Amino acid sequence: MKIKKIAVVTPGGDAPGMNPAVRAVVREAILKGYEVMGIRRGFSGLIEDDLLEMHMRTVSGIINRGGTILKTKRCAEIRTKPGLDKAIRTLKKHGIQALVIIGGDGSLAAGQKISSYGIPVINIPASIDNDIFGTEETIGYDTALNTAVDAIDKIRDTATSHERIFIVEIMGREHGFLSLSVGLAAGAEFVIVPEKNISISTLVRQLKDEKRKGKTSLIIVYAEGCGKIAEFAAEVQKRCVTEVRVSSLGYIQRGGVPSARSRYLAGLFGSHAVRLLSDGKYNRLVAFSGGKICDLKFSEVAGREKAFNEELYKTARRLSS
Ligand code: F6P
Repeated sequence: MKIKKIAVVTPGGDAPGMNPAVRAVVREAILKGYEVMGIRRGFSGLIEDDLLEMHMRTVSGIINRGGTILKTKRCAEIRTKPGLDKAIRTLKKHGIQALVIIGGDGSLAAGQKISSYGIPVINIPASIDNDIFGTEETIGYDTALNTAVDAIDKIRDTATSHERIFIVEIMGREHGFLSLSVGLAAGAEFVIVPEKNISISTLVRQLKDEKRKGKTSLIIVYAEGCGKIAEFAAEVQKRCVTEVRVSSLGYIQRGGVPSARSRYLAGLFGSHAVRLLSDGKYNRLVAFSGGKICDLKFSEVAGREKAFNEELYKTARRLSS
């Protein structure tokens, strides 16, 4: 099949770098002679037939803009048969022969389902969580990492001045990939992640050891997937004389100007995605692995979970001695 028209969509949680990825997909596709449509508000726009034509100038001036010009929305309906049927009907109605999805793990699952209807799909990994199997990095992760490290550098000033323990909450849904990188890069004394169980009594014993070693303030990075931070902090405070404070970084981690690294990946991922379509290689996840842009068939990534990096975890702990 000779593809003439494709669509691009940015579903799920936005990630800084989605805009440069949309720009790369649109421009590469137009240069290859394709017509391109953008789908508004993620899969909701596909179900509700809310699309727009994309041209070279539609994506001007967005390379340095956070969020997504296409907008996004959480869409549970795409996980249902009626929702999928409606989505496919919209694609057919507009003569769209292939879909490029820029999003996280939920978007990857949806991409696989849409491809089972015979529509060629390419997924580009974009999520601050960096939790997608098959790729060492997702678009947006580096920007979020920089935002969080910058925030912790500031928190450290007040932690040092007041000689307090600060527990800083980092996003990442049920995973600790972003937290671990933040902890390592910010020099946090402890990184609490869902992948590694640590009891409060062990943690408090280690906190006291740190104090004995001469540390007067401590930073604990706490992944949101570990449960309610206020309860955790109250438990730590009960057993420590040092004052404990909490700082949840929240949605600032998802916003802001995409970093050079996020834009770089966005450009290369977007370009690669369109090249795959023009080479007739469908139903794949674009990825970054071993220093190279590559791709994996959906069948190679389906249902697989990214492994937690134990070595990195141990290194982060050792370096904070
Ligand atoms: O997947 C990105 C993410 O920001 C997670 O880190 C977080 O748990 C979740 O999305 C928040 O989702 P929502 O935007 O629906 O509140």
